Amino acid sequence: MKTTGVIGAGTMGSGIAQVAAAAGQQVVLADVFPEALQRAQHQLSKGLDSLVSKGKMEKETAHQIMGRIRFTSNIGDLAPCDLVIEAIIENPDLKKSTFQKAEAVVSGHCVLASNTSSLSITSIAAACKKPERFLGLHFFNPAQIMKLVEVIPAVQTESALAGKMQDLMRAWGKIPVLAKDTPAFIVNRVARPFYGEALRIYDEGLAGMATIDWAMKSLAGFPMGPFELMDFIGHDVNFTVTETVFQAFYQDPRYMPSFSQKRLLEAGFLGRKTGRGFYDYAENSAKPEPVQDEKLGLMIRNRILCMLINEAAEAVQYGIASETDVDLAMTKGVNYPKGLLAWASELGFENVVKELDDLFHFYHDPRYRCSGWLRRKAGK
Ligand SMILES: NC(=O)c1ccc[n+]([C@@H]2O[C@H](COP(=O)([O-])OP(=O)(O)OC[C@H]3O[C@@H](n4cnc5c(N)ncnc54)[C@H](O)[C@@H]3O)[C@@H](O)[C@H]2O)c1
Repeated sequence: MKTTGVIGAGTMGSGIAQVAAAAGQQVVLADVFPEALQRAQHQLSKGLDSLVSKGKMEKETAHQIMGRIRFTSNIGDLAPCDLVIEAIIENPDLKKSTFQKAEAVVSGHCVLASNTSSLSITSIAAACKKPERFLGLHFFNPAQIMKLVEVIPAVQTESALAGKMQDLMRAWGKIPVLAKDTPAFIVNRVARPFYGEALRIYDEGLAGMATIDWAMKSLAGFPMGPFELMDFIGHDVNFTVTETVFQAFYQDPRYMPSFSQKRLLEAGFLGRKTGRGFYDYAENSAKPEPVQDEKLGLMIRNRILCMLINEAAEAVQYGIASETDVDLAMTKGVNYPKGLLAWASELGFENVVKELDDLFHFYHDPRYRCSGWLRRKAGK
């Protein structure tokens, strides 16, 4: 493959264009809005200049990368592409019509891919004339830095295509994992309890947010606590993903959203970007202090960690991804300190099962049902 098209020159599209160009591809970056193209051109050259000034890239390399990217508002310019990756806004109808327009100009051998985070790959494929050449390629933000790419074949995808795309992603310096076309794929699904269980502990009044953040950083080694991370992501984005996953899984109580987070969203307290979320980011505001009680900290850590492990186990049990790929996905896509299934083995599968069963017996809530996969691993 020599020429890659990217549709949508926003955060993800620009990053993907840089990755492809750095791998030696000729890139056509298309967007309907000329201002978006100008912004992308500016951001890309600013990012590359910064790498050069930090000594992380040769000036000539940066120049070559920019030279390989052609910016255009004419979708007809995608004609020579062997692969087209779509990264426009998360709107199913717009995505389907964009692929129909792309299919009208590209050759019969061109592969089509969507970077969607939440839509069904199969439903987008169904809108294409040749759905067998369509699949999901889900990059992580920032695409230039995060190594993970989820490769998601649709029901209609030709059987050899996912393997070919995994090879291509490796050639682009990425770490591909294979995911089944199910809501939120691997990472965005398996990560839900990091937020959801932290919110449950907080809503129940068992611990404050600063204490929960402290426990997950100090006792589990996560780079950020759940409340810090939700404020960083933005509650508009994070709450919407949770609610979408909750609805997509037919309102499974494991994914139930929290009213505390919903109220923040309604108040416009979206997190860091608005100066206030769970925490107040005003200059002189006092940050709440954690209660550094080890017993409380371990209760928090074990509860959130075991719920994360349970979600990872369910992903394996239902064939969403292999054990290896689930662990790779969480370490390479969202920087978890360890793969969750390897972590379970370290903690002892029987201890993880006991933690989940204790929660289930105490709350009588199916949210805490233990995965059969974990129970079998524990030899029960
Ligand atoms: N931002 C993330 O963290 C992230 C991570 C992984 C995947 N995604 C997915 O990637 C996609 C893009 O997200 P983003 O954050 O880059 O969005 P963004 O808003 O930064 O960029 C979207 C771009 O698409 C352009 N666009 C809109 N309609 C278009 C059309 N009809 N034709 C061509 N261009 C069009 C817009 O002008 C904009 O430049 C979404 O599907 C999102 O779910 C986002």
